[in-house]
Parts: sequence; C-alpha cells; structure tokens
Amino acid sequence: MIFEEIRSGGCCSYLVACGETCTGVLIDPELSQIDRTLGLMARDGVRLQYVIDTHTHADHFSASRDVAEQLRVPVIMHKSSAAPYVDMRVDDGETLIAGKLRLRVLHTPGHTEDSISLVLPDRVFTGDALLRLGTGRTDLPTGDPTVLYDSLFGKLLRLPDELAIYPGHNYKNLPVTTIGQERAENPRLQKTDRAAFVEEMRKLNLSMPDHLTEALRTNRTGGKTVAELLDEAARQIAFMSMEEVCGAIGSGATNLVILDVRERDAYEAGHIPGARHAPRGQLELRVDQLLPDPTARILTYCEFGKISTLAAATLRSLGFNRAVALDGGMKAWREADYPVEVGASPT
Ligand SMILES: [Fe+2]
Repeated sequence: MIFEEIRSGGCCSYLVACGETCTGVLIDPELSQIDRTLGLMARDGVRLQYVIDTHTHADHFSASRDVAEQLRVPVIMHKSSAAPYVDMRVDDGETLIAGKLRLRVLHTPGHTEDSISLVLPDRVFTGDALLRLGTGRTDLPTGDPTVLYDSLFGKLLRLPDELAIYPGHNYKNLPVTTIGQERAENPRLQKTDRAAFVEEMRKLNLSMPDHLTEALRTNRTGGKTVAELLDEAARQIAFMSMEEVCGAIGSGATNLVILDVRERDAYEAGHIPGARHAPRGQLELRVDQLLPDPTARILTYCEFGKISTLAAATLRSLGFNRAVALDGGMKAWREADYPVEVGASPT
C-alpha cells in the first residue's frame, strides 16, 4: 500500500493507494498543501480514483474541489453534506473501491452531521470523530455530543482493537494509536455513560477556530477563500518596490501614473507625492475618464497592499497591460519614511 500523511499545522490529510495498481484516494486535502499533495501523487505514481472529505470542515480550507477539477476525479462526501460540488454522496455501510483497496464507509456523526470514517483492514480514517487520545469537538455547526457518543461507543470502538487511528487533526504530534489503546487510554472515553460523556463535552468551552466563517462559507459552497482571490490577482500582475517608486518620483519620471485606491479621507491625510486618487469601489466606472491612455504605466497602491493587488489585476483585465501594484502599502511607505504629500486630489 502507498501511504502519505500530509500535515498542515494540526490538520492531517492522507493519500492512500493500492500498491499493485497505484490507484488511490485522497482524504481531506488542505488548500495550502495542494501543490505538495499533487507533487507526492506524481512522485508515487498514484492515479486518484476519488477525493474524499470526511466532513464539512470548519477549521481548514478543503482543496477537494480544486484537486477534483485539476485531476477530473469525483469528490465524495456523506449524503447529508451541504457542499454543492460533491459528485457522489455516500452512506453508512457502503464501500469505495480503488484498485485493490476497499474502504468501508461508516457514518460517524457528532462532530458534524455529515462526518464519515473510512475503514481499511489495518487502519481507520476517523475524520474529527475520534482523535488520537481525544475526540472532535461538538460545539460547531451541526455538532451534537449525544450523537458523537453513539458514533464513538456504538461504531468506532467496536472496530477490531488492532486498527490504527488516522484522524483529521493531530495537534500534539501524537504517534499512531489503535482502537484498543483508545478504548483503554483516551481520557474522553473513560466515562462510558452517555450522560456523563455529553456533560463533559458540553463543559469543554473551547475557543472558536480561526477563520471559522470563511472555512464554512468556502467548504459549504465551493466559493473561493480571500487568500485564493488575492493569489489569483497577484499572478496576473507584477509589483514595484517602494524604493523603485521613490526613485521614480525623485527623478521626476513622468511616465508613471501613481494611483491611490484608498478612500478619500485616507488619501487627503497623506499620499505618495503626485499620486492621483480613485477609490477601489469606483475604479471600473471612472477608469476611462481618469486614465484615457491604456498604454500608460500605472502603479496602484492602498494601505496594506491587498486592495491594490486586486485593483491592478482589474486594470489589467480592462486592458491596462502595464498596470503594476506597489510591493507594500501606504503603512509601510510611511514607516520607511518615504515622502508623503497631504491634501485633496486635483482630479
Ligand atoms: Fe472538523
């Protein structure tokens, strides 16, 4: 069997493939690791049969849709998943076949309603239902400690003792455990009474994960993350350093149009000398009046360098093929003590 664990902080993804046919599945891929994941697949000679999300993640950005699009493979989730990009919805007791691998699907809700675990003869991928010496939380959308109790005690702990646990998270870098070890040592599983387990889960009072709403938005809809949007824009343009821009101003260069895309009060409080002003929100509507020459060399900037990246990409898509963005923003410009001009825009 071909097996790769791909970590992104505390999040774990797995590439599992049949050693004979090199056909495999990818479980819970994460967006920031997509290039590495594709690289490992190529190195190992794996052809994917399915991409599987064990549940709707609230704390990592799923790369399933991107991998599926790039490799033309179906995305698999539980039948109750809300994500519209799922190609095949599975249910408890069904089997997924990849080469000679047979992964049995267990519906193990509780962390989320749509959580599944995937069972192989020697290991089980538990998503966030059962973690090594821990369990998934039950206080996020569709979570329910009573339901998790049934998944843990009624399903996962009934699997053979020797099965190794491969969870969706491993925050403490714990070595591989087994079902038998979890039953004996997992502190959350020592109270086998349902009410006591539920009470313990309800008392946990955990802080909300970073980017919760963004992760749920993108994972439930297939929409883009803000970072993806910025990356796409950044790939469409080049950047100019603050030093370069300062030098151009100092030499009196007239072939560079500097465009401040912040709001008016920010512009008037202090802008790059000679900069013109067009807030990002009005750029498309004012562009022909403001920039009649599409061959002009235009430099956009904003406060932090993100909105200006989007603005320069927008200008390129409108035909301003020499639009670039400042590498940095007005904040960094001020902090570097480059010259600042105050007052209203002449235009
Ligand atoms: Fe999760």
